[in-house]
Amino acid sequence: YTIKKAEFMLCAAWSSQWPDESLPEFLLAGRSNVGKSSFINTITDVNGLAKVSATPGKTRTLNFFNVNDELRLVDVPGYGYAKVPDRIQQQFGEMFETYCTERKNFKAMCLLVDYRHPPKDDDITMYEYAKYYHIPVIVVATKEDKLKRNDLVKNEKRIKEDLGFDENDYFIRFSSLKKKGVDEVWNTILKLCD
Ligand code: GTP
Ligand code: MG
Repeated sequence: YTIKKAEFMLCAAWSSQWPDESLPEFLLAGRSNVGKSSFINTITDVNGLAKVSATPGKTRTLNFFNVNDELRLVDVPGYGYAKVPDRIQQQFGEMFETYCTERKNFKAMCLLVDYRHPPKDDDITMYEYAKYYHIPVIVVATKEDKLKRNDLVKNEKRIKEDLGFDENDYFIRFSSLKKKGVDEVWNTILKLCD
């Protein structure tokens, strides 16, 4: 898939700020620090499109990125950090639920998990949440470059077991550092577009 254009559109704290429903959208969810921003930069081949941070994000907005005027990536702030006030957290939770249940052009969730470790409770909850709403999931196992060869199969098995992985979903081994998995990500996204 050739990237002709990839740009940040807007961040929305409220559903009224969402762009129109004309293009297929893919949610990117995952714990803080799992590599979501790096993932966006790597698959779009635009350095710094999404900020890569060493400190966990504190924002609670949905961040929309336009790719080729053909589809959108929607970054969900990393979960697993409770550094935002309850009121903001609750407001965001409501918007997230509205998005997942009502957004007509929502095609699939990319759930990023750290390939090195078993999924955390938050990851499992997010996967179960998606399955409850019949949302297709692309599990992206990040930081593949940090694994020993022997652990690739073992960790994939463990992650799938812990998530209760549905074999109709997708599992992609990914590394931003090695730019591994990029074609597979795009092939899967394009397949889920129609
Ligand atoms: P928040 O926005 O804070 O939720 O984090 P994030 O999920 O966007 O993670 P981010 O992309 O900022 O990456 C977090 C850290 O992991 C950074 O230090 C990255 O350089 C590192 N990182 C991300 N992807 C990879 C990867 O594929 N391999 C390796 N080795 N490091 C990575
Ligand atoms: Mg980020």
